[in-house]
Amino acid sequence: MRSHYCGQVNESLIGKEVSVAGWVHRRRDHGGVIFVDLRDREGLLQIVFDPDDKGTFADAERLRGEFCIRIKGVVRARPGGTANSNLASGQVELLCKELEILSRSETPPFHHDEPVNEELRLKYRYLDLRRDVMQKRIRLRHAVTRAMRDYLDNNGFIDIETPMLTKATPEGARDYLVPSRTHPGQFFALPQSPQLFKQLLMMAGYDRYYQIVRCFRDEDLRAERQPEFTQLDIETSFLSEEQIMQLMEALIRSIFKTVLGDDLPNPFPRMTYAEAMRRYASDKPDLRIPLELVDVADLVKDSEFKVFSGPAANPDGRVVALRVPGGARLSRKEIDDYTTFVGRYGAKGLANVKVNEKAKGREGLQSPILKNLSDDAVNGILSRTGAQDGDLIFFGADTAKVVNDAIGALRIKVGHDLKLTKTGWHPLWVVDFPMFEWDPDSKRWAALHHPFTAPRIEDAAALRADPKNALSKGYDMVLNGSEIGGGSVRIHRTEMQSTVFDLLGISAEEAQIKFGFLLEALKFGTPPHGGIAFGLDRIVMFMAGTDSIRDVIAFPKTQTAADLMTSAPTGVSEEQLKELHIRVKLPVKVEG
Ligand code: AMO
Ligand code: AMP
Repeated sequence: MRSHYCGQVNESLIGKEVSVAGWVHRRRDHGGVIFVDLRDREGLLQIVFDPDDKGTFADAERLRGEFCIRIKGVVRARPGGTANSNLASGQVELLCKELEILSRSETPPFHHDEPVNEELRLKYRYLDLRRDVMQKRIRLRHAVTRAMRDYLDNNGFIDIETPMLTKATPEGARDYLVPSRTHPGQFFALPQSPQLFKQLLMMAGYDRYYQIVRCFRDEDLRAERQPEFTQLDIETSFLSEEQIMQLMEALIRSIFKTVLGDDLPNPFPRMTYAEAMRRYASDKPDLRIPLELVDVADLVKDSEFKVFSGPAANPDGRVVALRVPGGARLSRKEIDDYTTFVGRYGAKGLANVKVNEKAKGREGLQSPILKNLSDDAVNGILSRTGAQDGDLIFFGADTAKVVNDAIGALRIKVGHDLKLTKTGWHPLWVVDFPMFEWDPDSKRWAALHHPFTAPRIEDAAALRADPKNALSKGYDMVLNGSEIGGGSVRIHRTEMQSTVFDLLGISAEEAQIKFGFLLEALKFGTPPHGGIAFGLDRIVMFMAGTDSIRDVIAFPKTQTAADLMTSAPTGVSEEQLKELHIRVKLPVKVEG
């Protein structure tokens, strides 16, 4: 039907006859001449309809936005002064000789160039995907997966598929379940990740595996989370933690170089979990924001100010200062707004000190809390934060969890508000995670990564003796404040795996039911192995410069895990339910 894409028609074709096909982007009538911008995946081409050509001209008058048409015509240079340097085809136009309307379009619910709300975009996703910006994003995604495959192929990795209908894998979210017709009352779980299968592939001797794979997690959604998302999933055998990390950061460097031409740091900086929490109150620090937390508990623990001295004396407490350069100019109202903001994270207040003129001592500082602090405390805080005239110091004092959540979020918000953020890519590895964290609700240890992550300690008895201080061989890759990948060296011996299950409160019986096949497989000569999974959607989101992963997924779900286009999920027929031996009992509606 066509000889060229619209966006490929250029001066080299002047005088030639070409056929193009696509959608009417815009139609303009100019004093008897009709212009149509014709659009296809490669761009726009201006079509000119000559009024002397009565037949096609009459047809052209009936063209409307999004009609799908085919044009045969002759390429000519645009008349002087009408060239459009924004278009690849902007020096030329196509004089129409033949117009065929392939199919009409109703008036679309939105035009490409106008702002449109996301609900409408998702309902008419096929129209949204026609937009140039979406075409670019989806093709960027393709370029990324292609670069991933190229790198992995060059490094001896093989692509192996793993089942979608499977058993629950513990990645910490709720499972999506699929009822089995042939096994009444029993369910498959959709994989939260191929974690166990990729480990089994290592046991099976396929020592460099990868898969670009869909994962399913029923969890609370945010801008960077989807209920079904895609991982680049990788596993290797006989490589040390160090070797795996080097190979993986080289992969990410190669993708950014190939796809965007951007150079990422070599090597990526590394930070221990403890340092990340200390300086940024986050295990995925956004290094674009230069603000850092400074611990001051030791300086205020004896002060009269109970708000500070209480948490300072509490082993689970934390007292921090956050210096905001130039922050003394913040208004009362702005500070009140920040106080409300940290309140959402459970902070009971947001003490602050304005540093007007340091040389004047206390006189040069401004804050109601000063009277409660000793000279040593005040001087210590000033020197530790490195505060300068014109700065503001915020304080957080509470349990470590509340302080980290509240001041960690404040750090990012203030950084953005005051435009202190650096540009560019800021990747890093976060390493030396604790093996476990204590869950006060269930009064149990919980795995910080997943229960197959190896501890640094090789000895199972030593781990059992001191789980609190055990570090894992886990590593997360963080980019601009988002976790884009996470992995670990795995446990490859039965005794250690059983010990970890035990510490996590998973009984031998439960472990047998849930992971019996893995425990069994571990007995047959398991190689040392480890790997990682990258969030493909997140990586592409960053590269595309958007802040929602929905923008880089062709058919995403909404925040409530629904598909507005197909209306999934939907009810099913009684017949289907009967076959599955399922009866639906809806929750009683609460009035009000
Ligand atoms: P993890 O759970 O850290 O590790 O997932 C790996 C990466 O997947 C991305 N990701 C998500 N992206 C979009 N929506 C979601 N709901 C979502 N959840 C996670 C993140 C994350 O870093 N089996 C282990 C990996 C391993 O140990 O090898 C795993 O799944 O970018
Ligand atoms: P108060 O003594 O409650 O009036 O608080 C004095 C100052 O300390 C106010 O600026 C409060 O916002 C602040 N403040 C109160 N509780 C906390 C807390 N947990 N962390 C940080 N600042 C606090």
